[in-house]
Amino acid sequence: MEDFITIENIGKNFLGLRALRDVSFSIKKGEAVGLCGANGSGKSTLIKILAGVLRADSGKIKIEGAEMVSYGPLAGARHGISVIYQDISLFPTLTALENICAANAVERGNILSLLERDRGRAKAILDDLGVSIDIDAAVEELPVASQQLVAIARALNNDSKLIILDEPTTALTSKEVGFLFKIVNKLKAGGISVIFISHKIDEIIELCDTVVILRDGRLIASKPVRGTGIAEIETLMVGQSPVYSKMKDVAPGAPVVLEVNSLSKRNNFKDISFSLRKGEILGVIGLLGSGRTELALSLFGMSPADSGTISVGGTERAVRTVRDAVRAGIAYVPEDRLTEGLVLNYPIHENIVLAALDRFKDKFTFLKRPSINETVKKWLQTLSIKTDSADNLVSSLSGGNQQKVVLAKWLEMSPKILILDGPTVGIDIGAKAGIFAILKTMMTEKEMGIILISDEIKEIASYSHRVMIMRNGRVARILPRDEISEDNIRSILNEQKQTKWSGHREERE
Ligand SMILES: Nc1ncnc2c1ncn2[C@@H]1O[C@H](COP(=O)(O)OP(=O)(O)OP(=O)(O)O)[C@@H](O)[C@H]1O
Ligand SMILES: [Mg+2]
Repeated sequence: MEDFITIENIGKNFLGLRALRDVSFSIKKGEAVGLCGANGSGKSTLIKILAGVLRADSGKIKIEGAEMVSYGPLAGARHGISVIYQDISLFPTLTALENICAANAVERGNILSLLERDRGRAKAILDDLGVSIDIDAAVEELPVASQQLVAIARALNNDSKLIILDEPTTALTSKEVGFLFKIVNKLKAGGISVIFISHKIDEIIELCDTVVILRDGRLIASKPVRGTGIAEIETLMVGQSPVYSKMKDVAPGAPVVLEVNSLSKRNNFKDISFSLRKGEILGVIGLLGSGRTELALSLFGMSPADSGTISVGGTERAVRTVRDAVRAGIAYVPEDRLTEGLVLNYPIHENIVLAALDRFKDKFTFLKRPSINETVKKWLQTLSIKTDSADNLVSSLSGGNQQKVVLAKWLEMSPKILILDGPTVGIDIGAKAGIFAILKTMMTEKEMGIILISDEIKEIASYSHRVMIMRNGRVARILPRDEISEDNIRSILNEQKQTKWSGHREERE
């Protein structure tokens, strides 16, 4: 197969920070390339350059042999390149049809001029993909998985030859991921090239032909996926094999930090009871609709429960608002790193200490600057947040490094109960191991327990002391440590799927 695109010696600096240096590789027609690298290694920067949104400082990009010359927001599209960013970038209030055919309408000089033939074309593209979506629904009302498909359909309607997916699977269920992969294989069969970015290496191995690995802005390897294992890719990404630190046992007689009794919320969850001890990580897992995120939101006062009790450190607390929760010592790191939890146009250091500001005031309520600086420095180091100064805006950090700032902010508050919802989605494996090592230390030093909500069975199995499996808003099982294994959790989750599909609704246990 011939090359569609050739990237030659690309370099890019941001105010002295070398985000990319001398990166070269090429992509064949119909080839899927998995782009991997630790947080801040330059992946997003590279695809912005391919899309024409950013201009490289040095090097060339050739498309079917001809140098790419135009730049600006629409440049990529002009060259047959479409990027589907993590936040997808569709027009949320327009319908699926209007989004898919926006370019046709723009060409005609009237964005609102949708014609019958546009409708026919949009339908044909979706049919070809084997997708059924209500094309007259506003995009914001569609689930994320469908929004992605609309974005892919739009790319096809624009005659794209290279479709770039930047961490597309983070917000998808495993079934949706399977479907997305089918679609990608169809695109490839049609001669379309794909760049797929993910921190989940097993996905790259399943989907891609070639893996391209960046480290600190440099190309470390570009090799066929066949014959390359997960461990090898991980090692190439971080420069050494990542260390998984086992969690210590919960100390015998460790105090209970949280006690939840018969907590219920209509249409969300029912009769949830569990406890959490100092030094303990309680893993929470369940299929979509199991109620686990809703439970977390209730514990954090964002959507209070209807009945039941929450006790922190032996005292019953009314948790009706976020304020109540924070006062009780409950912290929550949300799943969606960009929309919640950060002030993007504020410097990194303010984002870290803002929530804990009271602790940095002296008796005259003046801010203790040196102690703030000290603290911020500590977090930059322990979480290896990649930046040259804490004065930089959070928006200048790579996605994964922004997520680390959210984590630092909550850890700085030394909560008694830390709820982490998908804490390492978008965080590279090296940093991931580091984060759990810090949590381990914090839990031994402080009166703290952790509720870890995650879709990643491996993460839940490796780090939890007990695992609570939720189904249809109820606690289905709580596994003690000696029954925790990836296989066991997977088989219980699959069992759940079957009971759901075959219509047997009887609850076990
Ligand atoms: N607009 C910007 N201003 C300053 N620095 C930037 C800007 N955009 C990116 N950077 C820096 O360039 C480097 C590469 O960032 P990039 O977003 O490409 O990383 P990434 O590989 O996509 O990481 P992640 O996996 O965390 O998304 C980082 O050090 C980042 O802080
Ligand atoms: Mg990125």
